[in-house]
Amino acid sequence: MKKPISGFSKLNKSEKIEWLLKNSFSSDNNIKSILLQYCNSNEKLQKLHDEFAENTISNFYLPFAIAPNFLINNKPYTIPMVTEESSVIAAASKSAKFWLERGGFKATVLSTTKVGQVHLIYKGNFKILKKYFEKIKPKLISDVSSITANMNKRGGGIKSIELLNFSDKIENYFQIKATFDTHDAMGANFINSCLEQFSKTFKDNFKDTNEIEIIMSILSNYVPECIVKAEVCCEVDLLSDSSIINPLDFANKFVRAVKIAEVDKYRAVTHNKGIMNGIDSVVIATGNDFRAIESAAHAYASRSGNYKSLTKASVEKNIFKFSIEIPLALGTVGGLTKLHPLANLALELLDNPNSRDLMKITAVAGLAQNFAAIKSLITTGIQHGHMKMHLINILNQLKASEKEKEKAVEYFKTNMVSYLTVDLFVNKLRSNGKIL
Ligand code: MEV
Repeated sequence: MKKPISGFSKLNKSEKIEWLLKNSFSSDNNIKSILLQYCNSNEKLQKLHDEFAENTISNFYLPFAIAPNFLINNKPYTIPMVTEESSVIAAASKSAKFWLERGGFKATVLSTTKVGQVHLIYKGNFKILKKYFEKIKPKLISDVSSITANMNKRGGGIKSIELLNFSDKIENYFQIKATFDTHDAMGANFINSCLEQFSKTFKDNFKDTNEIEIIMSILSNYVPECIVKAEVCCEVDLLSDSSIINPLDFANKFVRAVKIAEVDKYRAVTHNKGIMNGIDSVVIATGNDFRAIESAAHAYASRSGNYKSLTKASVEKNIFKFSIEIPLALGTVGGLTKLHPLANLALELLDNPNSRDLMKITAVAGLAQNFAAIKSLITTGIQHGHMKMHLINILNQLKASEKEKEKAVEYFKTNMVSYLTVDLFVNKLRSNGKIL
């Protein structure tokens, strides 16, 4: 086994790379130049990125793209999206255009409450703890006044605080559960700072501090009270377009496809993954925490006890309706939102939304993505569009020249794309310049 290194974080970037080359790669193989190639020549900018995390040795690029033609609550938007998956942006853009011509998207924020918990162990009588909690409650709140002052000024703050008894589930386990409105911030630091002070005040003021053991104090990323709804609707006949020949058949098939994702877990996960293709892209572009958004979304999708689709579709009285309801704890201040120049630019592109508006825009991106996926799945099939978008990736893997790419794009307009067919095509071009 290799000897562990101590003090690694204290090394400068070159030293870290040298250590890596020596310890983790058998040959130099251009590794240093690849890593340095992705570093920005603007030292100030590179330093900013280096400081987003620890032990950074390079940058990892992802495409920053835009999807135009979104109409949300009658306001036009071009949505910034960061994703590595070819076809996500094309799908979002197609959906945006489709619904632009049919009245656009409507979105509403239903609630914005977030939750934090202090998990604790108390071996005494619950009644005594409860009495103490009621007495100490004003102090719990006053002791965090230096943390909450600014948030209160902005219209946010602590909404409620209660003591819960879970000793039937885990012996002697109790919880202080607090709810918060974090206004335009995602609020993780704000909530966690309040919780850590709650736990200190709660323990330190008890008659015998040894009787209370604080296990941990942390926000919950489950935010079923921080919900946004987005929808589209139109008369069934208006659904027709080049790939929808019979709008009523399409609408019924669409509703069935969504119903399948309500009853079948295997389909539901893929269905929701498609939604998250849109959601995550906006979340990343705006410097928000996509892991928090992902875990909340999937937990919400299972709130009934069964994992289900996050979207719903219906046809009633000749009206096709398609909607999403999803928890989105997003911020437009704090975190990376203003610090990362591209996240800042993304927010500017969205007309500097507040967190509620960003929730609406992001939910719409998820709904649009899901619409495009289901539309393809129930009409042309997904591979048609997917592989066309993937063609460039395959050509790049084959190190195709610009000329070869041009010829391939033309040829594969009418031929099936697969790694094998593209490989054959490129080899043929290279061997005799002729195409089969
Ligand atoms: C691929 O990234 C996403 C889809 O599989 C979603 C879906 O099946 O609904 C196309």
